[in-house]
Amino acid sequence: MIETARVANVDHPLDPLSQDELEKVIVAARRELKLSQHHLIAMVQLEEPTKSALADYQNGKTYSRAARLTIFDRTTAKVSETVITISGKVLSQQIIEGAKAPILSVESAQAIAAAKKDQRVIEALLQRGISDLSTVIMETWPIGAQIPKHFDDGRRIIWTPMWHKPTPQANFYAHPISGLHAIVDIDSGEVLAVENDQQIAIPKTPGPYRQSQTGADVSLKSLVIQQPDGVSFSLQGHKVDWERWSFRIGFCQREGLVIHDVWFSDDGQPRKIAHRMSIAELVIPYGDPSQGAYRKNAFDTGEFGLGNFTNSLTLGCDCLGEIVYLDVAVANPDGTVREIKNAICLHEEDFGILWKHVDTDGNVEVRRGRRFVASSIVTINNYEYGYFWYFYQDGSIEFEAKLTGIVLTLADTPGNPHPSATELEPGLWAPYHQHILCARLDLDIDGDVSGANNTVVEIDSFAHELGPKNIYGGAYEISETIFKHELNAKRVVDPFKSRFWKIINPNRKNHMGHPVGYKLVPGHTTFPLALPESTIGKRAGFMYQHLWVTKNETSERYPAGDYPFQHAGGAGLPQWTQANREIENTDVVLWHVFGTNHIPRAEDWPVMPVERTGFHLKPSGFFARSPAIDVAPASKPCH
Ligand code: CO
Repeated sequence: MIETARVANVDHPLDPLSQDELEKVIVAARRELKLSQHHLIAMVQLEEPTKSALADYQNGKTYSRAARLTIFDRTTAKVSETVITISGKVLSQQIIEGAKAPILSVESAQAIAAAKKDQRVIEALLQRGISDLSTVIMETWPIGAQIPKHFDDGRRIIWTPMWHKPTPQANFYAHPISGLHAIVDIDSGEVLAVENDQQIAIPKTPGPYRQSQTGADVSLKSLVIQQPDGVSFSLQGHKVDWERWSFRIGFCQREGLVIHDVWFSDDGQPRKIAHRMSIAELVIPYGDPSQGAYRKNAFDTGEFGLGNFTNSLTLGCDCLGEIVYLDVAVANPDGTVREIKNAICLHEEDFGILWKHVDTDGNVEVRRGRRFVASSIVTINNYEYGYFWYFYQDGSIEFEAKLTGIVLTLADTPGNPHPSATELEPGLWAPYHQHILCARLDLDIDGDVSGANNTVVEIDSFAHELGPKNIYGGAYEISETIFKHELNAKRVVDPFKSRFWKIINPNRKNHMGHPVGYKLVPGHTTFPLALPESTIGKRAGFMYQHLWVTKNETSERYPAGDYPFQHAGGAGLPQWTQANREIENTDVVLWHVFGTNHIPRAEDWPVMPVERTGFHLKPSGFFARSPAIDVAPASKPCH
C-alpha cells in the first residue's frame, strides 16, 4: 500500500485556499479592516472566479486569487463579508444586515462553561445523582424551532442537550439526561434559562462499541488491494486525470468536498460536463415533539460549516488500496489556521463487471469496470457523513452520502407509549428524523470554459388507455416537458411515472440529430414530514421539491440562504425562484434534494452501520454509443 500525502501547489484559480494563503489573508484583513479581538472569523472561503474570468485565465491572462471572509463583530453583533486578495487588497466589504452568525466553536465552549457553572444546572444534576460535572457532556445546538417568546428579541441563543458519561470511555449517548437543558445567549455568554421540567431516570444500559470494550472478534482473512504498476490516475496540483476523465478537487469550509471543471475525452476530444458540483446543504429535521427534540433541526452545512469537521483519514481503514490524500486547511474563529491532514481520499476501486456478452458462437466479451473515488468524511456531534463522488468508465458520475455514527437519544419511561421514537434499550429512545441533502449542480453540458446554454427537461413514462393507441395494453410512451421558467421547474420524484430529468444542450446535436444531454437519476429518497408551516418547514423550504432549476447566479449558493441560523424562513430557493426567470437555453443550475427517513432500528445501535443515499448523472444521448465499448479487455483472455 502506498500512502502519498501531498500538499499540492496552489496555482489555479479553483484550488482550495492553502494554509499559507489563509494565514496571509487573515493577517491582511486584520490590518486593512482594523480587526480587534472582538472580531471572530466565522468562515473563510475561496472567492471563486467567474466562468469568464476562468476562461481568461486559460487564455493566459493573470488571475489574482482572493478569499471571502465572513467576520462576526461581537460588540455590534453584525456580520460582514469582505473579499480580499491573497496579497491583501480589499476588493469589497459589506455588512450583511439581519444576518446572524452561526455558532462558532469558541462560543460553544464558553456556553458550555457557563452552563456548567450555573447553580440551577448544578442542582438539577445533583437531583439526578450527578455531582461530578466532568462526567456531563453538553452539546450546543441551534434552536431549530420556535424560539421561546421571551428570548425572541433578535439575540443569538443555543440550547444544551446533556448526556452522562459514567466512565471515561463510556458511550455517553446511552445515557441521556433528559428534560434538563440550559438556554444560553451566545453573544453575552449568559445562561438565560434552565429547563428542568421532566425528571426522567437516566437509562443505565451501556452502549459499548469500542473494540477494547466489546472484544469484537469476527474476522476474515486478509484482502490486499495492490496496483503493482502504479495507479492509473495522475494529479497535478488539484487536477485529476483518470481514464478519459479530467476534473479538479476543491474544498470549502462550509460545504466540504467540491468537484470543479469536469470533462470527458470523447475520441480524444475533451467535452465539458460540469463547472461545479457540491452538496450545498444538509438539514436534519427531527420528528419527536418531546423534551426539546423538536428543536433538533440542524443545518449541518449552513449552521455548523460542515467542512470544519473533516476527518483525517487512515490508510487501510477509511480507504483501502493505493491512496493519494490531499490535506486541507480551515480558519478558526480566533484567526488561527488549522491544517487537516489526509482530508480528501483519491483512489480507484474495482467495481465488478462493466459489461458482458456471450455470442452464439461462444465468443465472450467481458470488461471489468473500475471507478475513481474522491471522498471525505465529517464528524458532527453524534453523526458521521461521508461524501463520495464516483466517476465511471461509462461516462456516468454518481454521488453517494454515507451516513453512520450514533443516533441521537433521549430518555423516557421504559415501555411508555412514545409515538415518534424507537426504544433501543430500556428507557433509551431514538427519535425519528430525516437527513435531507441538497446538491448544487452547475452543469455545463457540452459547453466550454466560459459555460454552456442548457435546458432542463422532465421525462415521464405513461400508457394510453386500452384502445387504438394501446391495442394490446402493454404499450407505453414517454412525455417530455421542457422547463421554460423557474416556477415550472419545482418538481418531485414520481416512481409511478419512472420520472427523471435531463439536462440538454439544445445547441449541440448527437449523431441522430437530438440534443446531447445527461440525465439526473434520483436514488432512494424521502419527502419532508415536517409541515411547511413549521419553523423548520419555513427555514428549509427547499426540502419540499426534489428538483429546482435556477438561472445561474454566482451569489445564489445555498438553498436555505446564506445565513439560516435563526432565520425567519423563506430564504434561498423559494425566494430566488419567485423572480420566475427564464431557464430555457441559458446557463442554469440544478438543485437536487434527496435523503433518508430514519426510523431508528435496534440494529442502528450502538453505532449505525452505513446507510447510503445519493443520485446518478448518466449520459443520455451525449455520446453516439457506449463509451464503455472502448475499454480494453483484461490482459488475460476471459472464457
Ligand atoms: Co439518522
